[in-house]
Amino acid sequence: MPPLILTEHIRISGIERLEVYRAHGGYSALRKAVSQMTPEQVRDEVEASRLRGRGGAFFPTGRKWKSLPDNGLPRYIVANADESEPGTYKDHYLMMRLPHLLIEGMAIAGYTAGAHRGFIYLRGEARRVQRVLVAAIEEARREGILGPDCFGAGRGFDIDLHMGAGAYMAGEETGMLESLEGKRAFARIRPQYHAATHGLYGCPTIVDNVETFSNVPWIVNHGAEEYRKYGVPSAPGTRLICTSGRVAKPGVYELPMGVTLREVIWEHSGGMPEGAEFRAAIPGGASTHILPAEFLDLPMDPDSYSAKGFLIGAGSVTVMDQRDCVIAMALRLGMFFRNESCGQCTPCRDGTDWLVQLLRKFETGGAKESDIDLLWDLCDNIIHKTICALGWAATVPPQSTIRFFRDEYLAHIAAGGCPYDNHPPEDTFGFNHDLEFPAGRPAYREDVNWYTSGLDALPVRHEYSADADD
Ligand SMILES: Cc1cc2nc3c(=O)[nH]c(=O)nc-3n(C[C@H](O)[C@H](O)[C@H](O)COP(=O)(O)O)c2cc1C
Ligand code: SF4
Repeated sequence: MPPLILTEHIRISGIERLEVYRAHGGYSALRKAVSQMTPEQVRDEVEASRLRGRGGAFFPTGRKWKSLPDNGLPRYIVANADESEPGTYKDHYLMMRLPHLLIEGMAIAGYTAGAHRGFIYLRGEARRVQRVLVAAIEEARREGILGPDCFGAGRGFDIDLHMGAGAYMAGEETGMLESLEGKRAFARIRPQYHAATHGLYGCPTIVDNVETFSNVPWIVNHGAEEYRKYGVPSAPGTRLICTSGRVAKPGVYELPMGVTLREVIWEHSGGMPEGAEFRAAIPGGASTHILPAEFLDLPMDPDSYSAKGFLIGAGSVTVMDQRDCVIAMALRLGMFFRNESCGQCTPCRDGTDWLVQLLRKFETGGAKESDIDLLWDLCDNIIHKTICALGWAATVPPQSTIRFFRDEYLAHIAAGGCPYDNHPPEDTFGFNHDLEFPAGRPAYREDVNWYTSGLDALPVRHEYSADADD
């Protein structure tokens, strides 16, 4: 098992405070970077570590950091802390406990990029995380870790926290930049590297996920060579995986890159509850494939997944058992994507609603066999025809269920509706055949509130944490 690169100290009480964070080695990487390394050396080290972005696309971080043009414009660092996809909560947990780790990672990025300003873009509903981050930023300013001369020789860096209005689209990096500029979070039409070259206010910008930035202090402290020893060669290190659904111990676990779904569920999440039989799992959030048991032993790293045509996503595993209907799940996720579509592209705006209508036909009765092909075809007409990946993401649950659970579609047709009778009453997101859930995203409904009330109770793999005091 690799060391805990991110969560070694996460269970230490008070670790969210600067004093305690420092007592456990916090900010030593920033000190080392600024006092012993040039910005180029830090960038080289991050590139050599082969760190890849943890926001879902796994883009090589070092390559991104090196692609900022030298055009004399101000540079910005932006942490994507939106985390709005159903099932995802790893970043919010990390920030709740280790806000200074994120600040340290961003400050190192600021130092390497020659940026003076950074932003953390946090989703609007995450009030507890907001309070923790505000306190941490203020502490860092008071201690001169952030501020006009924090790197010495007149080089300064500061971070502002920006609360979004709660749109999933604002997690897409160009939508997020629009929102930061005070506009609606509409995705921008872009070539690759857009944010790096034409980011915030049209200036070079590094946008990275919270977990991505949080890896950087360890890499600076221990070196790229050490980092590459863990995980898989093409994607070293560990990753945070948050589990939910039919597992005995849902929680956030730091596990080596390349861990399998079987290990995540049975070794780390306490297995499935008594009487539950595995039916399917979503390996990385709502926009990833709904997979059957045959993929339980597939290593969860970007290359192993893409070799099968799967998306690896943002480290959130949702497990379903024999009581759960995969089509109801596809429908529920379809409603999420439809509600969150920003409406710029017709295939996404209208297509996601058609997806919902078709999937609902299977659930409520009246679907024919030809509707399976129609559903597939509809997805094909959305994929690659939209500005951002949300439209495409919406097609992943329907197409993966058709691909792996076609019998379920046929069973729904034969039964004249959903043959599973337990999901409406058990549904925590309020899905009901007659009732649409209100606009907004299912996982964060105020009345359910599992997200804000449950964070402290989440178990984290801590058996390797020598310093844990609780
Ligand atoms: C609809 C949509 C929502 C997204 N939401 C998030 C998010 O909440 N957090 C995140 O880090 N990346 C999100 N992404 C991916 C970002 O656009 C971007 O790839 C990521 O922030 C880059 O950081 P990384 O290289 O560190 O992964 C989203 C993408 C799409 C298409
Ligand atoms: S794909 Fe959907 S969410 Fe993305 S820009 Fe187009 S309409 Fe908006």
